[in-house]
Amino acid sequence: MGQKRSESPGLSRLVEETISTLSPIQSIMKIADPSNIVRMGLDPENIISFGGGWCNHEAPERLREIYADICLDASDFHISGRYSAITGNLKIREQLCEFEKNIFSVNGLRPDNICVGHSSTQLFHDVLRVICDPGDGIAVLDPSYVNYFNAVKCALPGSSVQFIPALDPVTWEYMPDPEIPTEYLKELCSEGRIKALVIPDPDNPTSQIMPSGILSGFLDILTDAGAYLVMDHAYKTQYFGDMPETYSWSCEDIPNLISIHSNSKWLSSLGRRLGWLEAPSVITNAMERLVESTLLSPDSLHSAATARFLEESIGNGSLVHYIDEMRKLYQRTATITMKAIDRHMGKPRLDPKGGLYTCVKIDTDPVRFTEEILRETGVLFIPGTGFGPSMEEGIRVSYGPLCDNHDKIVEGMERVGSYI
Ligand SMILES: Cc1ncc(COP(=O)(O)O)c(C=O)c1O
Repeated sequence: MGQKRSESPGLSRLVEETISTLSPIQSIMKIADPSNIVRMGLDPENIISFGGGWCNHEAPERLREIYADICLDASDFHISGRYSAITGNLKIREQLCEFEKNIFSVNGLRPDNICVGHSSTQLFHDVLRVICDPGDGIAVLDPSYVNYFNAVKCALPGSSVQFIPALDPVTWEYMPDPEIPTEYLKELCSEGRIKALVIPDPDNPTSQIMPSGILSGFLDILTDAGAYLVMDHAYKTQYFGDMPETYSWSCEDIPNLISIHSNSKWLSSLGRRLGWLEAPSVITNAMERLVESTLLSPDSLHSAATARFLEESIGNGSLVHYIDEMRKLYQRTATITMKAIDRHMGKPRLDPKGGLYTCVKIDTDPVRFTEEILRETGVLFIPGTGFGPSMEEGIRVSYGPLCDNHDKIVEGMERVGSYI
């Protein structure tokens, strides 16, 4: 044994330089950590948070029972401790095809179009490495989901993220003229600067849903350029109003369409990590080769419980009911939040078409604003910085965590309104 040395051998340039800081979301969440709240002289019990990017409805009772059944049955429990196939066991892949068919009328999906994974987060990272080379550009709308930026840096060294304008930072309208993003995309594609366009739908942070006409136009441009459309459907069940036409698109018919899905939001299973990717089999086969060295095996217990739950609840019709009720809950929550913002903050904001969020224009530095509002009112918002240039004077307000406590939404906005 050598002597204890004081110097560590050092870390990679990736973590030291390329991703040397936390995103603004993680930074404010750290500020809002209960121990820090106490240090600020506030009571953690009194904090009202519009910060969390999560839902808060109950998972189906039947799902809980199925987990209990698996755990109580010695044989099922033993089997759930085995590795599953790299892209997921056949039963869960079959049931996910059924889920898409029954809930969204996605036809023609086959189990070999499905790659089950740990989460959308893992699948996004891995699929980038399957479809792109380091250095290939990735396009996103401005603003977009903040985690993509570091994911691209980690998965594709040397690649850049190209913004396509969507939110007008002056009028606070979303895609007031669809020609503008379409022309931007055309230009990026004609110069060969991107290999994929990534769109969360419904979106985080704007909660907008891409109209089918615009998305079809984007797809035509990407197809001509030999680039992919990656739809992030983490919030797919949470659309308000009629189901968007594009939600029935199938990768069986569109060779450059990849969609990423997750149990996190719709099944209130953020911590029971399970996601899946839908893509032509040439891509899922390639995922298998890559995932062997990243994940090796998606979670067998969550896969088994989800497959059993889907088979049963699709069969007896209870799944449609569960999803409808959940969707209505978030729509009601969104309506209450928008009314409270209008009444107490009186600032421009986006009208959510689904999802868990809205964006409010505050016309000042959002990092300072959110820190001040937290300190002075005990209300937590997320600064827009980091979502894209259009949000440099905006904040993200999440109503997801308060879906079960509408009074708190109103109280939070009242507090902010009185202060500002
Ligand atoms: C657009 C979007 N995609 C993906 C995720 C993460 O999903 P998962 O829990 O499956 O990693 C989130 C989480 O907030 C999200 O907002």
